[in-house]
Amino acid sequence: MHRFLLAALAAATPQRHEIGKLPALGYNTWNDVRCDGVEATTILSLAQGLVQSNFSQKGYTFLNVDDCWQAPLLNEKGELVPDSLKFPDGLKVVVDKVHALGLKFGLYADRGFYTCAFRAGSRHHERTHAKQFHAWQIDYLKYDSCWSPNLRRKGALEDYARMRDALAQHAPGVHYSLCGWSSWYAPAVSGEEGYHSWRISADCDEFANIYEAARTMEQLSDYAGPTRGYNDPDMLVGTSTGAVTLTPAQSRTQFDLWCVLAAPLLLGTNPMNMNAWDLETYGDTEVIEIDQDPLGKQGTPVYSTCPPHAPKDNWWCSPWSMPRDVFEVWTGLLRALAAVLLTSALLLRGAGRPRGAATAFILAVGSVGYVQVLHTYRPRVAACQQVWAKPLAGGDAALLFVNWASDDAAVACDAACLDRAGLTRRPLYVREVRARANRAPLVDGASVLVQRVAGGGGSVLFRVGL
Ligand code: GLA
Repeated sequence: MHRFLLAALAAATPQRHEIGKLPALGYNTWNDVRCDGVEATTILSLAQGLVQSNFSQKGYTFLNVDDCWQAPLLNEKGELVPDSLKFPDGLKVVVDKVHALGLKFGLYADRGFYTCAFRAGSRHHERTHAKQFHAWQIDYLKYDSCWSPNLRRKGALEDYARMRDALAQHAPGVHYSLCGWSSWYAPAVSGEEGYHSWRISADCDEFANIYEAARTMEQLSDYAGPTRGYNDPDMLVGTSTGAVTLTPAQSRTQFDLWCVLAAPLLLGTNPMNMNAWDLETYGDTEVIEIDQDPLGKQGTPVYSTCPPHAPKDNWWCSPWSMPRDVFEVWTGLLRALAAVLLTSALLLRGAGRPRGAATAFILAVGSVGYVQVLHTYRPRVAACQQVWAKPLAGGDAALLFVNWASDDAAVACDAACLDRAGLTRRPLYVREVRARANRAPLVDGASVLVQRVAGGGGSVLFRVGL
């Protein structure tokens, strides 16, 4: 009887082979509307937008609501409370309507006492919150890392395991997406039951962070796959409306590279307001197919002129993992503080209090120095080129030529480069994917695939095979 019950439960609960078998596709509010637009009416119109724009038919089925849906405090039972102004009828009715459109609903919570935008966190209330997630019928949980006292690896993993266990017990079937901004999550949780994707680097809110994320991904390809889960280099940044945007070339390079990296693809632009370029970038089914290839392999560089790179993992308020907008507010505050301290130093000196004046002066110099440190360690894009290769089912490979430098450059993939991509046989047929154009085949061992690639973050995507 007991065995029968367990078997029935296992059949009812989606297992790893169903959830997160391939990278998640959908939309997330954060890069688009930040806190302000997170409210029931906007979420419902976004849901309709995903369907009407055909994105949901192309696989973008997760509608993920990021930070700011919650009230700043838990209720007396320790439960999360949806912001009553933004969700006057609660959350369940919104989730139901999103489900009725054939979409899946994702929600954001945090392992600390507060979320990054100072809403209530889930620390010490994991079970209660998992029960709420189940009652609301959510399909995806992004679990962030702000305001937890556990800054180091061991404690962070304990925090994540507590919510993983709570979900397994009270909300089975939820796609669990970790957001800890560090590459060491990959070896720690890849292949572990209950973990489906994990952020490996800082927020991608400028092109330099995209370069950083890509370079960090180079070392993590072994940890991705249908039975392991996926490295998450962060969400997509479009060129249309949105809280953050990139140039057209950079935005397309991010998308095509993310597909070669088998990364989750979460749109950061409202599908109904997208310009033609973004529609083309995110709607190209041949490119989406590369991301969703059933082998689930993460691409690696097979040619690179880039300097060596070490992952810049997060530590508390590190410059390289500080989102650009936080960096701007923070440096603005430090400069203002320095000005106040300098004025105080002058006044104290005039008032005959030299020790007080000296202290204020030293603190002012410290503030200015910290601003300088923050600037110095901001991520920067190196002037280099790469060819990334992703093996595809059936023996083809996707090759992405990327030019990170500001000037145009010719990039070549010679026989050794093609070998590293697993393309050892000849002839090889070459298709320029975005242009839907076939190139002359590579017929012998001396053939080289050469491509001129625009500077400022340009790229060209090929599908190469027998
Ligand atoms: C962190 C995460 C972002 C986003 C914000 C919300 O910075 O890395 O992706 O969720 O918090 O506050």
